Amino acid sequence: MTDKTLDEIKAERRWNYAVYPSGTIQEQLDELAERRSTCPLSFSEEGGFWLATTYDDISSVLRRNNRGFVSFPNIPDGKVAFGQKAQIPIELDGPVHGQYRKILDPLFSPERVRAMEDQVREVSSGLIDTFVGTGKCDVVPQFAFPLPGTIFLSVMGWPVEDAETMNEWVETFLHGVPGGTEEETLAARMKASEESRAYIQAIVEDRRANPRDDITTSIVNAEIDGKPIPDSDLSDLFVLLLMAGLDTVQSVIGQSMAYLATHQDKWDAMFATPEALEPAIEELVRWTSPAMPTRNVARATATVGDLELPEGERVFCPLAAANRDPKYFPEPDDVRFDREAKPHLSFSLGAHRCVGIHLARLELRVAFEELRKRIPSFRLQDGCTPHDVIGLTWAIQDVRIEFEPQPAN
Ligand code: HEM
Repeated sequence: MTDKTLDEIKAERRWNYAVYPSGTIQEQLDELAERRSTCPLSFSEEGGFWLATTYDDISSVLRRNNRGFVSFPNIPDGKVAFGQKAQIPIELDGPVHGQYRKILDPLFSPERVRAMEDQVREVSSGLIDTFVGTGKCDVVPQFAFPLPGTIFLSVMGWPVEDAETMNEWVETFLHGVPGGTEEETLAARMKASEESRAYIQAIVEDRRANPRDDITTSIVNAEIDGKPIPDSDLSDLFVLLLMAGLDTVQSVIGQSMAYLATHQDKWDAMFATPEALEPAIEELVRWTSPAMPTRNVARATATVGDLELPEGERVFCPLAAANRDPKYFPEPDDVRFDREAKPHLSFSLGAHRCVGIHLARLELRVAFEELRKRIPSFRLQDGCTPHDVIGLTWAIQDVRIEFEPQPAN
């Protein structure tokens, strides 16, 4: 600790950080690595947050959610999404957040998720059928993006034929109108928000009238503070569930497929033995680390690294920085399937640890198994250079692969 005032420390450690830069993921990781070795807890005046870069600092902040830190607002730029009060449950804190987790955790428990395997396999295989005969695939739009959204519809018991509309809404929420003005993006998001809310409202009313043995009915009939969840909160929760699972899974699949297209040895190693796949997927989830949460000091002061931060200070926790900390992951930029390191933080820690962790792991395992069955080897198409998209999550686009055409199932 130091005798300097917080303003003096901020001035000393001022180092602006662009949350949404135009460069590549590797450039962003290189910058985080430089900060980690020279100024592990810097202050971004532009962003109004402290930037944590070590595994120890990031994990200690995330573990203290509700105990010194809160997660509202969770978005790095401090903005609230689409006019909502707070995203449910990711921006809720304290006992009300705990009540939501008591509703959600059992619905996505390992047992419940195990029972979803056939549905997940059917969706994965169906998507592969749409391109496998052509010997080509644009991985993100044809597989990685529609996969989690369609699985979401299937496991929630919503009409799977609505997948395209659902995917369009989510695309608009997450990426706005590419190339459009801010006003165009805002208008498109408002429209998607109104349409999706009306759609969800109809589903909520249907489940109230015709309860089924499914996740949707369990959520619709759940109570918070002893009262039914208001319709607008149900809608916020369903939208968040859909979005939380969509961009993350698509990012892991997209980035992994771009890497594997130039590393056939790793693609083979993932299937070398039946035990090889799960640790390989964990390594790919570490290496791709899509999510970047923020936490805020809630009460009194909280220690982060060598500093005591007062109430209201924000700490940005890029999970990718923790996951590339060489203290725990030697040669962190390499994909190594035999790491015996700390668990990665891609699913976060503490109160907000990912609800969908078991579903995400199932989706990834089944997706890679189904891809391997039908596409034993693949490469990037000539002239294809995938490019990174650094937004609310880190992802990749333009992963166009080619392979020996196979008959559809
Ligand atoms: C590879 C895929 C995934 C990754 C990397 C991932 C990552 C994360 C992370 C880092 C958080 C916590 C953010 C924070 O600490 O503020 C989170 C929360 C959450 N995730 Fe996931 N996620 C994935 C897939 C899914 C899926 C498939 C679902 C669908 C059920 C899901 C549902 C949620 C929900 C509901 C939360 C909020 C939890 C809370 O606030 O208590 N995620 N996820």
